[in-house]
Amino acid sequence: DTIDAFRQTLLDWYDTHGRDLPWRQDHDPYHVWISEIMLQQTQVNTVIPYYERFMTWFPTVQELATAPEARLMKAWEGLGYYSRARNLQKAARQIVDDYHGQWPQTADVLRELAGIGPYTAGAIASIAFNQPVPAVDGNAFRVFARLLKIDADIAKPQTRQIFGQVIARIISPDRPGDFNQAIMDLGASYMSAKNSDSEHSPVRQFNQAYLDGVEDQYPVKTKK
Ligand code: ADE
Repeated sequence: DTIDAFRQTLLDWYDTHGRDLPWRQDHDPYHVWISEIMLQQTQVNTVIPYYERFMTWFPTVQELATAPEARLMKAWEGLGYYSRARNLQKAARQIVDDYHGQWPQTADVLRELAGIGPYTAGAIASIAFNQPVPAVDGNAFRVFARLLKIDADIAKPQTRQIFGQVIARIISPDRPGDFNQAIMDLGASYMSAKNSDSEHSPVRQFNQAYLDGVEDQYPVKTKK
């Protein structure tokens, strides 16, 4: 059916054209987590060298948990939003102390960690632990709003749930982490906010807003 065809098309494209990024070399939850936090307010190309240095300075969650504050702040210098770095260490200590170094594997429990909201919990659960849960960020809002002509206003907090429910039905049950990351790559390329190129997109035949010539109307976002 259409959902199967969409998954297959998306994952085939990801297998051949997905970005080769340092945090995609394995599915270690520590690697996924650090990269996702860095990527929250910072572009991929800027994050890469920060991520690589961070992993040499703090190779494990245990080393992050016991790192001197000044060194952690030094590692974060230039990324901004220092509360992210402070929350990283809080969460590292939670994992070491409260979870005995064993990562929780579900999005619901991951959300109990400092600095981990619904998006990051979904990203870690799907990419590191193969849980079929969505990771709804700006890319996912834009991509699915266009594919399915979803009219819900993404400026409203309740709208995340609507998208989450839609994506939960479409996500690949076999490769949820790759599915979510393929959506991110699509949202950063053919379906980007500023330079979209839908006529050449690997999923153009599934893009209802494009087929109807109304792509520029999605996602719907009211000004606050
Ligand atoms: N943006 C947020 N998470 C990402 C990821 N895992 N890969 C690429 N871009 C991202």
